[in-house]
Amino acid sequence: MFPHRSLDSLLPVVEDAVDRLLDQFTEDLHQGPVDFHALVSEELPVITIGKWMALPSSDYGLLRTLTHDQVFSQELFPTASQLARSDAATTQMRHYFIELIRERRERPGDDLVSSWLRTWDACEPDRDLADEAVHSLALFMILAALETTSHVLSSAVRLLLEHPSQMDRLGHHPELIPDAVEEVLRYDAPIHMISRVAPADTQLGAVLVPDGQMVQLMVGAAHHDPDQFPNPHLFDIRRRSPHLAFGAGIHYCLGNALARLEVTALLRSLLSSPVRPRLSAPVQWAPRVAFRRITSLQLTHS
Ligand code: HEM
Repeated sequence: MFPHRSLDSLLPVVEDAVDRLLDQFTEDLHQGPVDFHALVSEELPVITIGKWMALPSSDYGLLRTLTHDQVFSQELFPTASQLARSDAATTQMRHYFIELIRERRERPGDDLVSSWLRTWDACEPDRDLADEAVHSLALFMILAALETTSHVLSSAVRLLLEHPSQMDRLGHHPELIPDAVEEVLRYDAPIHMISRVAPADTQLGAVLVPDGQMVQLMVGAAHHDPDQFPNPHLFDIRRRSPHLAFGAGIHYCLGNALARLEVTALLRSLLSSPVRPRLSAPVQWAPRVAFRRITSLQLTHS
């Protein structure tokens, strides 16, 4: 689905977007505190995916808002009004991608959606079924990519600002950035809950999970399990421990390399810039369990 060639071609897109967003951030800092989350973290993932799928930039805001609403349905205890917002967002996104596929059928390009259509046409003679498959893929990709990556971008910046000695260490040793990214993903996994249904009676440790029973795997708790991670509440970029932030097994996240690339590019650029921001207000969070979401990360000049 994501050929390696695509990732290579996305690197300049990501680096260019990071540079532009951080230039804007630096400029805005002269005027006072800036919400890094809104200005940078919410923008970079939608620019990256938007360019890859060749979506009009005027649609980025709409797609971000619809994604925020849609993921309520994946929460542990959504309210009735949250479910209604999620349903409405799903319907709107369905229409959006049906229209996009119609356009790409008329004017195919070298974008991701056109290439998926070519792939499906080669193996699925029924064009409606091919369209349906590509439609689901496009929709899922937006949902999978935006909230998660936005969160980890802000989370990385926040954790490093809260741990200045580790920030300094990274400044002197940028080769440690990939280790820092993994520790951010362990310490504050963007998805805290992965759902599975038992295909048969299954013994899990001391618990018998009956056939057909849904199980919620609590990733955040697993990442802070002292039997797996010594001193688990310590944020330590030297840890280098494997984690479950991208899941495991056959459903392992297909976008993991892209997400890692975005966070690495952001930290590289931020650490090499002369700007030394600091937190200017407590971080604001959406009250959620499954999809972690920072809603505001106010930064100012040191
Ligand atoms: C930090 C960012 C991200 C995190 C934490 C994350 C996390 C995850 C997790 C936990 C799963 C497994 C879900 C399960 O087992 O039920 C998953 C699957 C998936 N992710 Fe991501 N994801 C991220 C970014 C992305 C991006 C950027 C894309 C697309 C470009 C993407 C596309 C996918 C896809 C297509 C799957 C489904 C794989 C399958 O079922 O075979 N993800 N992701």
